[in-house]
Amino acid sequence: MAAVAQKGAVIVGLSVTTPSSDRRATVSLFSRLRKPEGQTDPFSIYAELRSQGGVSPAPWGGLLVTRFSTCDRVLRSGDWLEPDKEWRQRQGERTRWSAPSSREISSTLPALNPPEHTRVRRAAGTFDRGTIERMGRRVGGIVERLLDSLMDHLHTGEADFAALVSEELPIATIGDWLGLPAADWPRLRELTHDQVFTQELLPSASQLARSDAAMAELRTYFLELVRDRRTRLGDDPVSDWIRRWDALEPDQDKADEGVYFLALFVLLAALETTSTLLSTMTLLLVEDPTRWNMIAEHPDLVPAFVEESLRYDPPTHVISRVAARDCLLDGVEVGADQMVHLMVGAAHRDPERHPHPDLFDPRRKPGHLAFSGGIHYCLGAPLARLEAHTLLHQLTTRLPRLTLVRRPGWAPRVAFRRLLNLDVALA
Ligand code: HEM
Repeated sequence: MAAVAQKGAVIVGLSVTTPSSDRRATVSLFSRLRKPEGQTDPFSIYAELRSQGGVSPAPWGGLLVTRFSTCDRVLRSGDWLEPDKEWRQRQGERTRWSAPSSREISSTLPALNPPEHTRVRRAAGTFDRGTIERMGRRVGGIVERLLDSLMDHLHTGEADFAALVSEELPIATIGDWLGLPAADWPRLRELTHDQVFTQELLPSASQLARSDAAMAELRTYFLELVRDRRTRLGDDPVSDWIRRWDALEPDQDKADEGVYFLALFVLLAALETTSTLLSTMTLLLVEDPTRWNMIAEHPDLVPAFVEESLRYDPPTHVISRVAARDCLLDGVEVGADQMVHLMVGAAHRDPERHPHPDLFDPRRKPGHLAFSGGIHYCLGAPLARLEAHTLLHQLTTRLPRLTLVRRPGWAPRVAFRRLLNLDVALA
């Protein structure tokens, strides 16, 4: 899930030149984005970016895309690729792309291009209706338990919904599904928060070092898990992946490595993103009592409320691709291998796609790119939706109305949103 910047790259073949004043303005926009105020409201900064045009040069190289239709087209087109292992090697040894965590992530599903991507995606399987139904019962039970604990806290005062519910539900769901011991969950969650920097837009050297360390620990953990599971194959996804990889790959070490990359990426993909969706959705619910009442009175609006939350403030604000060959993007020349950053968080507020885009309106015509598009469309979307629907439904049917105690804080990121707290109380 690369959302990454081509630091130090030279823009070759762009028919637009950036006046240094525009370049300075864009640098300043991005430094504002990474500050707490920028994280609280990135959308007004995106509006300034959009005013420079739907496709504008990024100061560090590559392009920034804020128009919804262009982002959508790039995601669905075979002319745009993931920055894969070979692309990363071409960027040179002294770039962020040669960091061990970047190399490691380059072997996971969302960093592969066809034909390798097609092969591995097939081996990954899908969350079909039967699986989601089975998981639905487990998720219902987990949500019930988490809301009981939330209520216990609320009876004695305020409670941090992010820590008690949003951070817990995804790890309990995926940990249970993959058969990971519950004692390991807190550490795994911590490691996923650390590894994310290698996928961020402009990571610092110290952030990359944290990603490298986290990824090394995750590698040891998951390789051990795969080898252990091989000795007692059962009816679980890791065992299924072992069987599928064994059919594809005669070399057992290579097969184990294939399973490891799948298990690793499913964990990385499933935790922060879903936690952020759960917190964002709950923030939108509790900050305006009319929204809580709307869902309590019309539970059939639960799915639409979740989709509008995904449009309004998606967990992933940037998705990146590189040009397969020289081409034109909305009239702008792009050279082969150049990177484009699809500013999905901005594109969701594109007035050409959504009238009155800053209005939160679950009744609007749906349409978002929160789960990407084309061949890399998120494999876990049905599971993320299941968790969000179950939580929203139980919240508004079981609990009395909650209210926001104070505005939450966000981690200083650009691509991957993360609410640090969500303090609520009984209304
Ligand atoms: C709200 C929660 C989630 C969001 C916003 C989200 C977002 C995304 C996005 C944007 C991509 C594509 C990246 C790209 O195009 O480069 C993606 C891919 C993926 N996601 Fe999710 N995701 C979520 C939850 C999950 C969950 C729960 C799982 C697994 C259980 C999961 C597994 C995957 C996998 C395996 C891919 C790679 C697909 C491919 O490259 O073919 N995601 N996700």
